[in-house]
Amino acid sequence: MLKNTIFLTVLVLLFSGNFSKAQSIIWLDQLDLSVATQGHGKPGINTSVDGKKMTIAGETFDRGFGTHAESSLLIKLNGKAKHFSAWVGIDDEITGHTPAVEFEIYGDNKKIWSSGVMRLGDKARPVSVSLQGINQLELVVTDGGNGPYYDHANWANARFEAVGVSTFETFNPIASTPYILTPKPAVTPRINSASVYGVRPGSPFLFRIPATGERPMTFSVKNLPKGLAVDTKTGIITGKIAEKGTYEVILSAKNAKGSASKKLRIVCGDKIALTPTMGWNSWNCFGHEVSAEKVKRAADALIKTGLVNHGWNYINIDDSWQYNRDGKDTSFKGKMRDENGYILTNSKFPDMKGLTDYMHSNGLKAGIYSSPGPWTCGGCAGSYGYEKQDAESYAKWGFDYLKYDWCSYGGVIDGLPDNDPNKVPSLAFQGGADLDKGVKPFKVMGDLLKKQSRDIVYNLCQYGMGDVWKWGDDADAQSWRTTNDITDTWASVKSIALAQDKAAPYAKPGNWNDPDMLVVGVVGWGNAHQSRLKPDEQYLHISLWSIFSAPLLIGCDLEKLDDFTINLLTNDEVIAVNQDALGKQGVCQQTIGELKIYVKELEDGGKAVAFANFGREKVNMSYKDFQKLGITEHQTVRDLWRQKNIAKINTSNQSLALEIPAHGVAYYKFTGTK
Ligand code: GAL
Repeated sequence: MLKNTIFLTVLVLLFSGNFSKAQSIIWLDQLDLSVATQGHGKPGINTSVDGKKMTIAGETFDRGFGTHAESSLLIKLNGKAKHFSAWVGIDDEITGHTPAVEFEIYGDNKKIWSSGVMRLGDKARPVSVSLQGINQLELVVTDGGNGPYYDHANWANARFEAVGVSTFETFNPIASTPYILTPKPAVTPRINSASVYGVRPGSPFLFRIPATGERPMTFSVKNLPKGLAVDTKTGIITGKIAEKGTYEVILSAKNAKGSASKKLRIVCGDKIALTPTMGWNSWNCFGHEVSAEKVKRAADALIKTGLVNHGWNYINIDDSWQYNRDGKDTSFKGKMRDENGYILTNSKFPDMKGLTDYMHSNGLKAGIYSSPGPWTCGGCAGSYGYEKQDAESYAKWGFDYLKYDWCSYGGVIDGLPDNDPNKVPSLAFQGGADLDKGVKPFKVMGDLLKKQSRDIVYNLCQYGMGDVWKWGDDADAQSWRTTNDITDTWASVKSIALAQDKAAPYAKPGNWNDPDMLVVGVVGWGNAHQSRLKPDEQYLHISLWSIFSAPLLIGCDLEKLDDFTINLLTNDEVIAVNQDALGKQGVCQQTIGELKIYVKELEDGGKAVAFANFGREKVNMSYKDFQKLGITEHQTVRDLWRQKNIAKINTSNQSLALEIPAHGVAYYKFTGTK
């Protein structure tokens, strides 16, 4: 077939005597596929996304583009292509899962072909479309409606019949040059804490005053309640408050260049996490390769990079501090718990108490992870049947935060089969939306955590099943994941962002919707790479997580922070919106084409507004629908990323010029003026 095609092409060339009119076959795999965006892995050139021979329902293919939903490849045809053909389907390399995808083709932004939903084992479907007169082609693979999981998708034997050209240019319309907007912090002191902090009576109090400015710096606090003391050199406040009550204190910081003060309302009562958690989590950069040493280094880096001075203060260990069911750890002696059911740590975590002591001595908090099933998602020992011992261990070790997953709980929702945890797969997700059964394990752990003698922020990680936002508070949780795992792709960030509004009414001080970790910086364990999000996509991601009042957990390697990522994570005005004491979650108030406008009410009466451009075209407009955003009369408009006032307008008759990059954002604060 290939031979025939070459022969024909040569014949056409010879006899036409005119190269520009010559017809040729251009294979998709000959184009630059590296610009494609996809949900996982790298574009496979003549291979599946995992780099193997393409196989669809037992049939193998030598050529093509192996990708992963959500996937998009844009090609400039400039009217020079006549026809496109291919065979599409899900690669057989996926086993034990139920992926679904839909292949779609867009010509000049109009859908011209679609495969319909395809599943694993479906025979390859033929594609044959005329491209007459089309200038721009897009090959898309969507998630088939069930999320972009295990969606290994092949455009096999894909080729163009072209006229007068020997290749086509592929492109990605989103700008890729990073640019820094956050101004460098001043040398004079500035206190960057939230204005409220919650603690339970009798619990250890730990609060490090986050302040930027030249060191050395000395700290003081006025009106500290009885039982608390501040270390004047570090700004770390410790102690215990015995009585419930609200205490207004004044934090002060002083250095050679000046001084600064800020009010802090300490609320000693039942509620904790009165503002969203800010910190770091080990999963997205270290995965199962996490160790106490790496976690300690992350804590050091949080301090050394200055992130701690902007309010980042949790260091959370995710999965794999426990023994794994594969028993590969050399220190594993065949048991995961001691004779009293207390969990043992694996050899990479020899001294949990020592580790949290280290965090605490630096004014940082420590987080840990488990699952209510017998196994965590990564196959480590989970808490099923040992919840009491586990809650006690976390408290005894000094943890301040627990992320509690779901995973294997699906396998025990109706009881442990044959009393044998080994009969339960680590990934058994069924039943989570069943309110009678799916809520129970989270209540069990919530009750136990509340009984401990320290405050442990409780985060549920069951991906939003059963509308967790409606009952998470009853399980004594402070935050809950609303969706499946995030990845560092535009499709993932976009779909998670667009899924947040329904849960927004349930966000309040002490209760936060968690759209998962921040995918900026160097992420990906086993294959560390810079976030695949483009710079504008990262600005949009951080702005939306800020306006959503989302817990902010950095997922990247803190020892590899570049200037651009630091700029994203140290903008105190962007962070202040997230940490605003009113605790409202911003929601979309207006949609104009692909522009979504999110608004969040702030404690000082101002409003944060994120103009988020989900489209591939730049937005250039004169905006005047302020009443739709609940914004009236005279306003000062401040650009939060640039930390600059950009306009004073009478919103009843003036407009605001908006210029927003494709997949980018304008993040402003509106404050009423006379
Ligand atoms: C997933 C969870 C991830 C990570 C992982 C650990 O279920 O969503 O964030 O914690 O488990 O195995």
